[in-house]
Amino acid sequence: MQGLGLFIVFLPQRRGDAAPLRLRVSAVNCICCLFPHLLISTFPHFSRTSVSFSPIFLLDLPHNYYHMQFQLSEEHLMIQKAARDFANTECLPGVIERDEHQKFPKEQIMKLAELGFMGMMVSPDYGGSGMDTVSYVLAMEEISKVDASVSVCMSVNNSLVSWGLEAFGNEEQKKKYLTPLAQGQKDGELYIGAFLLSEPEAGSDATSQRTTAEDKGDYYLLNGIKNWITNGSSASVYLVMAQTDVAKGPKGINVFIVEKAWPGVTVGAKENKLGIRGSDTHSISFTDVKVPKENRIGADGFGFTFAMKTLSGGRIGIASQALGIASGAYERALAYSKQRKAFGKEIMHHQAIQFKLADMATRIEASRLLCLKAAWEKDNGIDYTLSSSMAKVYASETAMWVSTEAVQVHGGYGYVKEFHVERLMRDAKITQIYEGTSEVQRIVISRAILK
Ligand code: CAA
Repeated sequence: MQGLGLFIVFLPQRRGDAAPLRLRVSAVNCICCLFPHLLISTFPHFSRTSVSFSPIFLLDLPHNYYHMQFQLSEEHLMIQKAARDFANTECLPGVIERDEHQKFPKEQIMKLAELGFMGMMVSPDYGGSGMDTVSYVLAMEEISKVDASVSVCMSVNNSLVSWGLEAFGNEEQKKKYLTPLAQGQKDGELYIGAFLLSEPEAGSDATSQRTTAEDKGDYYLLNGIKNWITNGSSASVYLVMAQTDVAKGPKGINVFIVEKAWPGVTVGAKENKLGIRGSDTHSISFTDVKVPKENRIGADGFGFTFAMKTLSGGRIGIASQALGIASGAYERALAYSKQRKAFGKEIMHHQAIQFKLADMATRIEASRLLCLKAAWEKDNGIDYTLSSSMAKVYASETAMWVSTEAVQVHGGYGYVKEFHVERLMRDAKITQIYEGTSEVQRIVISRAILK
């Protein structure tokens, strides 16, 4: 624990205090800088995690120790509020009807795009908002509290399609496709993307691609069928994984930018789903589709690595969606418990309800921390494969559990549409399935911890 603090300001926060208490430079501060464990043991009422040092000169200090903070910046809070306001004013009206009639929330997506939420993490050079992944988690949670059909569209466009293109596309591809995708519109029309990996026989077993992309010299000939495609009919651009060389296994898979309007592309019937019924999920088939060579992303054989790397970030989006579904259900259960009376008092006064709410709040907080940690790692260039899988499996299982308990808190009212929690419960289920099932996340986690 060596270090030299010539001028130190630190911001201890008393447990339970809302605002940080700023202490001025003093000899004590310098001593505490040199011996931070002394600070913690001398002032045990100061939370270690909320201590923040602003060093001018620090040598050899273990940065994680000093710099861990559980505070959002002003910008983060503004983004969170903007998303919350949007969800309540634009998504809440009509959410039950859209779910009932499986109506794609086009109007909401267009407005989200105007606010910059469809290309949140994309650089402004390509029409994006240039925000960090933490902001994305915050926005996804708020939108998902109200309408997970809107948020899945937002998640796929942001973290699978736009991120994948920005990270691995070339300059021409970015200019042509990423810029309108990040803006969510082109010439005033909706312009979003979809991610085409899953097939009838390649869901979890994603390396078993049957869709083929035959190399024909200056183009590829694409044939096959993709399943469960979010944004299937509303997207203008598809990122399609296909097998070019079977003998090479996963290393023979490529990824292509394919326009929906090209000859040979057919959008199948819309799936009639349990949840996220507003989102448009379709199968897409390709019959002798000519894909120009310049529409391949990355080097030959990069497609599976592209899919895995992109999905690691996508899983942060879906984890945040699950977090939002859970917190939306919890907030409704909490509010209901304060109004509903049984046995002569509001049900929040019954321990059976109190314990449910306590467990809900605890699991939601744990999910939120996992989501934010994965996002923070991504923003700081740290490998986030493990943390995104942990966030996804935990948050999605929390969403399923919390939303089911929220229905239980509501009793019979929870079972009807007007109270929203039955829809949140139906929406929760998919978060345990798409972008890698809970079982796939456990494969990723166990491989990481056992290697
Ligand atoms: N980053 C880079 N490379 C990776 C990687 C990663 N995260 N994970 C695997 N790879 C590489 C491996 O290193 C391996 O290469 P080598 O042979 O050179 O070592 C190659 O990819 C094959 O990997 P595995 O041997 O690990 O493959 P596997 O068959 O055992 O499967 C799996 C691994 C984790 C189960 C993977 O298939 C998987 O993630 N499946 C789930 C697919 C999925 O999430 N689908 C979601 C569809 S998209 C969606 O749902 C969007 C939506 O609509 C909302």
